[in-house]
Amino acid sequence: MAEEKNYEHIVVERPTEGVGLVRLNKPRTFNALTEPLMRELTHALGALAADESVRCIVITGTKRVFAAGADIKEMAQATPVELMQKNFIGRWEQIRQVSKPIVAAVSGYALGGGCELALACDMIVASETAVFGQPEINLGVIPGAGGTQRLARTIGKALTMEMVLNDRRLSAEEAARFGLVNRVASVETYLDEAIQLAAEIAARAPIAVRLAKDAVNMALETTLSTGLAYERNHFYALFATEDQKEGMAAFLEKRKPEWKGR
Ligand code: CAA
Repeated sequence: MAEEKNYEHIVVERPTEGVGLVRLNKPRTFNALTEPLMRELTHALGALAADESVRCIVITGTKRVFAAGADIKEMAQATPVELMQKNFIGRWEQIRQVSKPIVAAVSGYALGGGCELALACDMIVASETAVFGQPEINLGVIPGAGGTQRLARTIGKALTMEMVLNDRRLSAEEAARFGLVNRVASVETYLDEAIQLAAEIAARAPIAVRLAKDAVNMALETTLSTGLAYERNHFYALFATEDQKEGMAAFLEKRKPEWKGR
């Protein structure tokens, strides 16, 4: 992809077949999520989502920091009208809308909008140094990119209240215990583990993976009966794919399926 070379604040790589990797690359300001960085990130994700050779995406920062939140310098003098007109916060929703699965590989700080970025992804692999927090209360504001909502739906009301009202931070081990992250690995191996997880998902039936992601995310957004109907319709729809015929035939013929993504 030509665009990959032109990014200033991120780096896009292809670490292994089927996997696109986006590194946030502004270590001097702890990967503070500026408007230009978020614009590049959503652009890169759009390009990876449109690229048929990519089936799963990993977003990471550096070993020291995933992202320290929205850029405070950029926001400090903003008015509500400016924030609305820019729709900067809408970038997080754009990430949530990416149809392919995204694994966040988090090491060091994931604070404020950085924690919300990880929450907008589908799975989190953390290094043992990861710290998750929503410190916006220290700035006289609250999380604006999903923190209050996604955390409450993921780790429950009690702990979310502590995190959002009183800047309670979660260690990697706590985040795993409370169901925020999928697994914890060493600082040396967390990124490889995230890429490995992404590669495994990338090797699966692409349309089923896409609808599975969509259905699970719907569980966080709607009532149980609406979600069950949504899931059932996705299940029925998959019987229109060649991969469903191939997957079931392969099982019955005791061989490995060959997915076509059709
Ligand atoms: N925005 C802008 N700059 C930031 C930043 C941020 N979110 N986080 C860190 N930086 C900058 C610092 O200003 C500093 O820059 P200078 O060297 O030019 O002074 C540099 O990164 C290094 O930071 P520190 O000197 O503070 O380093 P530290 O090791 O002492 O602390 C830290 C690291 C704990 C991450 C600390 O910087 C910190 O608390 N950052 C702010 C975290 C925060 O409040 N995030 C929420 C932002 S609001 C938000 O995200 C809203 C939303 O919901 C979308």
